[in-house]
Amino acid sequence: MRHSENPPGALGRMSRRGFLRGTSAATAGLAALETAIATAGEAAAAEPPILGPDPVFLTLRVNGAARTVAVEPRTTLAEALRGPLDLTGTKIGCDRGACSACTVLLDGAPVASCSLLALDVGDRAVTTIEGLAGKDALHPVQAAFIAHDAMQCGFCTPGQALSAAALLERNRQPTADDVKHALSGHYCRCGTYTHVTEAVLAAAQVRRS
Ligand code: FES
Ligand code: FES
Repeated sequence: MRHSENPPGALGRMSRRGFLRGTSAATAGLAALETAIATAGEAAAAEPPILGPDPVFLTLRVNGAARTVAVEPRTTLAEALRGPLDLTGTKIGCDRGACSACTVLLDGAPVASCSLLALDVGDRAVTTIEGLAGKDALHPVQAAFIAHDAMQCGFCTPGQALSAAALLERNRQPTADDVKHALSGHYCRCGTYTHVTEAVLAAAQVRRS
C-alpha cells in the first residue's frame, strides 16, 4: 500500500480549514472589490465636466467691466481679447511666451496673455492697454512714452507700457536698472530701449510729484 503524507482524517480537517480560509479570503476580496467600485464611482462623480471642443461661455473682468464671450476652451487670453472682445491693443508676436508683446495685467501683475487660457483667468481683473488711461487723462507712463519718443512701430509699446505701469505701482522711485530689469522680457525690434527707460523714469517722477 502506498504511503500517504496526509491520512484521510488529517486531510479532511485541513480541507475544512482550507475551505474556511478560502471562504474568508473570498469574502474579504468581495468587500474590497465593492469598496473599489464605490470609490471609482465617487471619483467619477467628482471629476470636472469635459469642456469643448465646442465654444463655452465665460465671463472675464476686463478693464473694470464684466464681459461674457463664447470661446473654444483652447482659446488663449490674447486671442479672446483680440477676437471676440475686440481689444486689439494687445499684440501677439511670438505666441509662445518669449517676446512679451502680449503682456496684460492680471490683478495688477504683468502676464503673457498668449500663454494663458482664457478659461483659466477666472475672476482675476484683466487690464489691457485700452484700460490703462484714466477717464480724463493718459496714464503718466503713456504720456511719458509720447513725450520721450519711446516708440517707433509701436508693436511692443502696449506691453512695455503695462509692465512699466505695474513697476511704478510697486516701486515709486525706480532706478534705471530697476526699469531695465522690469522690462527685460520685452523685445523691441526697433530698439527703443533707451527712450523707454527715460520715459519710465520721467513717469515715476510725475507720479511722485
Ligand atoms: S506673443 Fe506672447 S510672449 Fe510673445
Ligand atoms: S517700437 Fe517697434 S518693436 Fe518696439
